[in-house]
Amino acid sequence: MTATLNRPGVGTGRVVWFTGLSGAGKSTLASALYEELKARGVATELLDGDAVRENLSKGLGFTKADRDTNVRRIAFVAGLLARHGVTVLVSAISPYAETRREVLAGLPNPTEVFVDAPLEVVTERDVKGLYLKALAGEIPHFTGVSDPYEAPEHPDLHLRTDRISVEEGVQELLDHLGFGA
Ligand code: PPS
Repeated sequence: MTATLNRPGVGTGRVVWFTGLSGAGKSTLASALYEELKARGVATELLDGDAVRENLSKGLGFTKADRDTNVRRIAFVAGLLARHGVTVLVSAISPYAETRREVLAGLPNPTEVFVDAPLEVVTERDVKGLYLKALAGEIPHFTGVSDPYEAPEHPDLHLRTDRISVEEGVQELLDHLGFGA
């Protein structure tokens, strides 16, 4: 029991906030890390953009005001969980630097992870087919196309997902969070 509580992240809540363009790999990395932490017995929870928007933020759109509301709601829930010892993994575009700064400043043990792939790469990947539509003008306010993405200037961790594998990304996260091998 004592040994478990002495492991990093066990018994102490924290928030790991993944920000980046649609298709950059936020959800992939966050869910891979989630599985890894769960397997290690860490109390962890995942707040993923798409799932949040189907529930907590249902009805919100993609104007700056709606995105900021979405991000603040996510932060509110993340804070509640983290204060009860949970390692909370947030995956949300969260495109506005000032809003991210504001919410992260109010969270316990925050880690900002910039999930970075160039626009050309995510447009080429176009996993959900959204960039094609956005470039055709069919989706207004699309991040990186017709809406801004303000990249973090000093993220705690910067992962270039066009250069590293998911496994390498998860290892970097584990190392950074103090879980080691
Ligand atoms: S935000 O900016 O943090 O409030 O966005 P988020 O809650 O992460 O939602 C992003 C997902 O919504 C889909 N989608 C859009 N993304 C960006 N811009 C526009 N206009 C848009 N419309 C729908 C898209 O699938 C995003 O998912 P991810 O996982 O990021 O690819």
